[in-house]
Amino acid sequence: MHKFAAVMRIDIISAVPELLESPLNHSIIRRAREKGLVEIHIVNLHDYGKGSYKQIDDYGFGGDAGMVIKPEPLYRAITDLTSQREYDHVIYTSPDGEMLDQGMCNSLSTCGNLIILCGHYKGIDHRIREHLITKEISIGSYVLSGGELAACVICDSIIRLLSGAITCEPSPRSSSFQDEMVATAIYTRPADFMGWKVPEVLLSGNPKLIRQWQEEQALERTKRLRPDLLD
Ligand code: ADE
Repeated sequence: MHKFAAVMRIDIISAVPELLESPLNHSIIRRAREKGLVEIHIVNLHDYGKGSYKQIDDYGFGGDAGMVIKPEPLYRAITDLTSQREYDHVIYTSPDGEMLDQGMCNSLSTCGNLIILCGHYKGIDHRIREHLITKEISIGSYVLSGGELAACVICDSIIRLLSGAITCEPSPRSSSFQDEMVATAIYTRPADFMGWKVPEVLLSGNPKLIRQWQEEQALERTKRLRPDLLD
């Protein structure tokens, strides 16, 4: 196994850490962790809860229905981390945050240490957002039941960009959106599947023609599927 110096550390604070287990322990993320490219630490918010019940939530002021995560456990969990090392960002996953896109992923992939706080229930006490959170990220214009899936999306989209994380591709930067284009159509064997044929040019063995076809394909697919990227 290769040995790389750990270049990134991500601490994820969650009230439901079980939701993070599988996505962060398989495939490219698992291999990146094994290679030492990234350390991921899961912090269970309940460990910072109040009293013998380890309470982390309470009724919201103002009469709105729903539970809100209390400031004390959030404060203790975040400051426990920030007292040990410096962080580039203390991220909160929220539907009203800045929309995650490839540019933001590229920029986050250059960070050293990140905290990602997963929201839950109705949300977190606003004072923590005002005083401790440095960046709020949304993964789309819809509401999830918690921030854990969003945290996994953020981790996946940045870890795959770390140098050495994807060994079979020349560079993860050749994927969709990296050049503000949708990826070209891709195929594998068999060349003829139930009469559905792979485009002839891909079987030609002519790298120049293939590259040209792939670029045309990417442009045509971008115009059709994501014209906003060309604006
Ligand atoms: N939490 C709930 N919905 C979310 C979203 N769309 N993005 C990030 N975090 C969220």
